[in-house]
Amino acid sequence: MSQNILTIMVVGAGQMGSGIAQVAAHAGFQVLLHDMKEEFVNRGYGAIENNLARQVEKGKLTSDEKEAILSRINTSTELENGREADLVIEAIVENMEAKEQLFSQLDQICPSHTILASNTSSLPITEIAAVTKRPEQVIGMHFMNPVPVMKLVEIIRGLQTSDAVYECVEDLTKKMGKVPVSCNDFPGFISNRVLMPMINEAIYCVYEGIATKEAVDDIMKLGMNHPMGPITLADFIGLDTCLYIMEVLHEGFGDSKYRPCPLLRQYVKAGWLGKKSGRGFYVYE
Ligand SMILES: NC(=O)c1ccc[n+]([C@@H]2O[C@H](COP(=O)([O-])OP(=O)(O)OC[C@H]3O[C@@H](n4cnc5c(N)ncnc54)[C@H](O)[C@@H]3O)[C@@H](O)[C@H]2O)c1
Repeated sequence: MSQNILTIMVVGAGQMGSGIAQVAAHAGFQVLLHDMKEEFVNRGYGAIENNLARQVEKGKLTSDEKEAILSRINTSTELENGREADLVIEAIVENMEAKEQLFSQLDQICPSHTILASNTSSLPITEIAAVTKRPEQVIGMHFMNPVPVMKLVEIIRGLQTSDAVYECVEDLTKKMGKVPVSCNDFPGFISNRVLMPMINEAIYCVYEGIATKEAVDDIMKLGMNHPMGPITLADFIGLDTCLYIMEVLHEGFGDSKYRPCPLLRQYVKAGWLGKKSGRGFYVYE
């Protein structure tokens, strides 16, 4: 089935979507990079151009290769372009209503063979699939940030995802130079079910005055060989995203061990969202 995939539409040209488009075009696929407005698509396309230019400077890519990759990416602001896609990878805002609305529209626009994938960090694939008439062709493809660097793609099988679709997406992930690892559709999947409680617990340690944020980060870096401390990592991911995922775990499992730390809630309420807002646990210039 994977040989049928020639054109990939990436919906949402933000941090993740632009990275996914870059990697797909690099692997030789035709890419349609879509967002709601021209300026958003241009920003995503510009980020890809900059990334590739840096690779040329470092000698990892020739100018000709860079141009060839860019020539495989077309931009789009009309969802109707989904008619051309063999696979759609959705990377819009982490909001169930927005994703359901999009998948329902894509289901009407895209040809019957098109696979619909979501890059969601935590939302149930089975629930997203339920708004379509092709739940067996809906799957999770959870890329890691930054996409061009990180090897893992967590592949999430919804309750109704077919074996053929799973195998096709697994094969395609390898063609994109990534390593697919499979898991079933439960809150937080594997990556965020393991990572987020650790981050939340690190924030509890600061909240309870057990250690400073710097000490918590140093202990995990020097003692556990983590490349980045959990408090810094939370700032990089975005504290709002961390809180959102903890809430998904808490609600999804109904287990108090996933309760979000009050300090995390307070920072998000204050608008201290981490690196992207200039301040989280640390201050960014
Ligand atoms: N940031 C991370 O570290 C990370 C890692 C893995 C997965 N994710 C997931 O990837 C998705 C995107 O995250 P991001 O960090 O790239 O966000 P982002 O805010 O950088 O980008 C989202 C983009 O989607 C666009 N968009 C929103 N609604 C849309 C719609 N209806 N149609 C078309 N475009 C729309 C926005 O204009 C924006 O450009 C989320 O589901 C997130 O949970 C994020």
